[in-house]
Amino acid sequence: MHLEKLELTNYRNYGGATFEFSPDVNIIIGGNAQGKTNILEAVYFLSAGNSHRAGSDALLVKQGENLASIRSEVDRDGRRLSLEVFISMNEKKRIKVGGVEKYRFSDLLGNLHAVIFSPEDLQIVKGGPERRRAFLDDTIVQISPTYHYWRRKYDRVLRQRNILLKTMNRNVDIESLELWDRNLAEVGTKVIVNRIHVTERLSQLSAEAHKKITKGAETLELNYICRVSEGGVEGPQEIERRFIKELIRRRKEELDRKITLVGPHRDDLMMNINGLDVRSFGSQGQQRTVALSLKFGQMKLIEQEVKAKPLLLLDDVMSELDEDRQSYLMQMVRDGNQVFITATHLDSFAPADVAGHNIMRIKGGKLVD
Ligand SMILES: Nc1ncnc2c1ncn2[C@@H]1O[C@H](COP(=O)(O)OP(=O)(O)OP(=O)(O)O)[C@@H](O)[C@H]1O
Ligand SMILES: [Mg+2]
Repeated sequence: MHLEKLELTNYRNYGGATFEFSPDVNIIIGGNAQGKTNILEAVYFLSAGNSHRAGSDALLVKQGENLASIRSEVDRDGRRLSLEVFISMNEKKRIKVGGVEKYRFSDLLGNLHAVIFSPEDLQIVKGGPERRRAFLDDTIVQISPTYHYWRRKYDRVLRQRNILLKTMNRNVDIESLELWDRNLAEVGTKVIVNRIHVTERLSQLSAEAHKKITKGAETLELNYICRVSEGGVEGPQEIERRFIKELIRRRKEELDRKITLVGPHRDDLMMNINGLDVRSFGSQGQQRTVALSLKFGQMKLIEQEVKAKPLLLLDDVMSELDEDRQSYLMQMVRDGNQVFITATHLDSFAPADVAGHNIMRIKGGKLVD
């Protein structure tokens, strides 16, 4: 699986640009703020259905424009497939797969797989729980695209239920609230079950990477923290039952605070090194290593699930990582994945790392020769 061609129109600082890539290593060189990360972000969008950094799609549309597009040609085992995304300022985003308009956004996903290593990764460890939930969700979407549907549906149900909590008369509207309880528990359970499952797999694969990077000194363990599955539960029915029970238990509090207090939108991913919480006890260096291990875990998981090597998008890793972690990364990179690396200067690479690779130079949202 590799990306052959990318065409950006009104995307971020690109008015119109076309890139052709090597199936091996592509090195993207350019000064700060010239558009290097924007290219990786667009590629990532094709695989995860969202940006790895922007909260809202509207930010991706070039200032002053209305419609952005990411169009691509992908090679899947020798078969060519085009993937296209159209992001509008005032309408729903649209997609085309193989030139055909698709009405389910999840049809885009599962066609191209990518893992991004970027300076923002540290936020998965250091940032708020929403960063960790997003990391899990982005991973799940790539291995089971229909999850995108349930995840979006959960957001909708949650929003509706919160509106009801804000506007309802607590003496007469309890029946409608109970209906939304059942919806929330049903859809929320799908989200929880997927996240628990992916956490188990990631925990094992990230721990293997972490062991190697720390030369055996540290054992990493991941746990999905979720009130309704606390203590380990058997199967979705049990989770859904406990979800409803928890909603009933906290009903009064929810009615008082007029907001949904139970569900996967409040869950978290806990990361321990040798039994201690990395967020509270980890050094800066340990936290960076965990961020890297999580991404290696994600990469391995995708590879095992889809039986193909995901694209590796390495944003600015040369400036971000110390030599040990860099060399570990570069070792992994020579493993047959299609790779995209950004850097401000070519001389941040060892000459042997550059030889024979496709080098592209970017300036002000344009490809320069
Ligand atoms: N919606 C947008 N419309 C127009 N320009 C945008 C938009 N979003 C971002 N930009 C511009 O894109 C540029 C940043 O691009 P990018 O993040 O790809 O830079 P970079 O080459 O990775 O830089 P660095 O080396 O600092 O990481 C900035 O100049 C920014 O103003
Ligand atoms: Mg950048």
